[in-house]
Amino acid sequence: MQRLQDRVAVITGAAGGIGLATARRFAQEGAKLVLADLDEDAGRRAAEEVGGLFVRADVAQEDDVVRMFATAHDEFGSVDIAFNNAGISPADDDSILTTGMDAWRRVQEVNLTSVYLCCKHVIPYMRRQGKGSIINTASFVAVMGSATSQISYTASKGGVLAMTRELGVQFAREGIRVNALCPGPVDTPLLRELFAKDPERAQRRLVHVPLGRFARAEEIAAAVAFLASDDASFVTAAEFLVDGGISGAYVTPL
Ligand SMILES: NC(=O)c1ccc[n+]([C@@H]2O[C@H](COP(=O)([O-])OP(=O)(O)OC[C@H]3O[C@@H](n4cnc5c(N)ncnc54)[C@H](O)[C@@H]3O)[C@@H](O)[C@H]2O)c1
Repeated sequence: MQRLQDRVAVITGAAGGIGLATARRFAQEGAKLVLADLDEDAGRRAAEEVGGLFVRADVAQEDDVVRMFATAHDEFGSVDIAFNNAGISPADDDSILTTGMDAWRRVQEVNLTSVYLCCKHVIPYMRRQGKGSIINTASFVAVMGSATSQISYTASKGGVLAMTRELGVQFAREGIRVNALCPGPVDTPLLRELFAKDPERAQRRLVHVPLGRFARAEEIAAAVAFLASDDASFVTAAEFLVDGGISGAYVTPL
């Protein structure tokens, strides 16, 4: 499918996991790509692989975010798709009883403030074009609670979801669609690292997935490609769950 032929897409957190899988999928669908990440080595390798342009950017820094979208526009002439995906899930973000201000703030900055900054600075390009698709990565924990808590992460994703909904409503008549992607647990380095340290925590989560497994990053990328494309022309301000059925489950199959 070539649904994104010549669309210019900026992907944050594109050096690995869901971001990289999406970069690959967008490239297959014909998009021109700007890949942004903190990790220069992996970011450059990813950009080379998909024939895109790498920009080193810390998405929690306003100057970096401004430069990232300006680079995309200067280089390719438009910014049609923003996949605001970079996020962290550090080990010191845990129960509210043990999570300190440092971890709380760091996660809010990278997961939530970054999405505010990316939307703030991409929307003006899209308004001038009269079109655009923004996909912000939230999570299924934005819509349901977990007893194995990562309190700042969960709160940040709830914020991403609420902000996305509001932006989708505000800019709908200007041709800009804004959707929140809510993935269930995905088999990526971020999750593998977390669960390697705590297999019981992995099992406690897995048992709740009706499909009986974690998602592959490619399955999330397929949903992002849909949201980015005109196939989703009537989809905006959505809480777009790609969660293997978790949020719809009461009792799961054996
Ligand atoms: N993996 C899951 O199970 C899962 C589930 C739901 C939502 N998510 C969300 O999906 C998104 C991607 O997660 P992933 O699993 O692919 O993670 P990942 O760790 O594999 O990739 C995240 C990328 O973001 C980059 N990054 C981190 N901080 C950054 C910053 N300040 N500026 C720029 N880049 C930065 C990292 O270098 C990395 O390349 C995150 O927002 C995450 O919260 C993940």
